[in-house]
Amino acid sequence: MSDENQSPKTPGSLTVRQRITAMTLAAFAGIAVSFVIWQVVDPETGPGTSGVVTGQSGVALVGGPFSLTSHEGTPVTDKDFAGQYMLIYFGYTWCPDVCPLALQFMDEALTQLGARADAIQPLFITIDPERDTSDVIKSYVANFHPRLVGLTGTPAEIAEVAEAYKMYYRKTEPLDATNPLSYGIDHMNVFFLMGPDGTYIAHFMSPTSPKDVAAAIASHLP
Ligand code: NI
Repeated sequence: MSDENQSPKTPGSLTVRQRITAMTLAAFAGIAVSFVIWQVVDPETGPGTSGVVTGQSGVALVGGPFSLTSHEGTPVTDKDFAGQYMLIYFGYTWCPDVCPLALQFMDEALTQLGARADAIQPLFITIDPERDTSDVIKSYVANFHPRLVGLTGTPAEIAEVAEAYKMYYRKTEPLDATNPLSYGIDHMNVFFLMGPDGTYIAHFMSPTSPKDVAAAIASHLP
């Protein structure tokens, strides 16, 4: 990383925490590119008054078709959600803190939006296809919004959708050296809001409250 990324910028620059997150991500091999992409996608982000960073440009850069498997074990594609907004969160069910909190925010934000949330399909896409089978995800999503749909897939399918959304993640070393499946996954903490035609509308990084998420979403609804 160069000093350029750490120096104070305009009020529209990232918060310290987000900058640290971005720098951590950029430290991973091959991920420096993502930082550049996110700067391009997200040139006018800022903490603002809500604490939620949003971005609206880079429409062509984020999202795309996907073919995955629902928590009910049925095939699902992006076409199944045509006509609805998609509120997408990428994570994994073993995540000790970030994912459960984000999904709780998602749940509460949709509740706060009331009838307006009817137009929104909340989706949880695992970045851990090895451990997150449909059955595992089915039990997990039951803890959150009643309409939350969990999606998994083959490692190749998950890698493809994650790449389409510029969703960067990286496995950590196993916590228990004798159990290779005891790894964690570092990942970006970001919601994506996609339009009824499937195109990117905005993303919300590192939200700090359900109210922030609700306000950010509401600003993009008709
Ligand atoms: Ni997580």
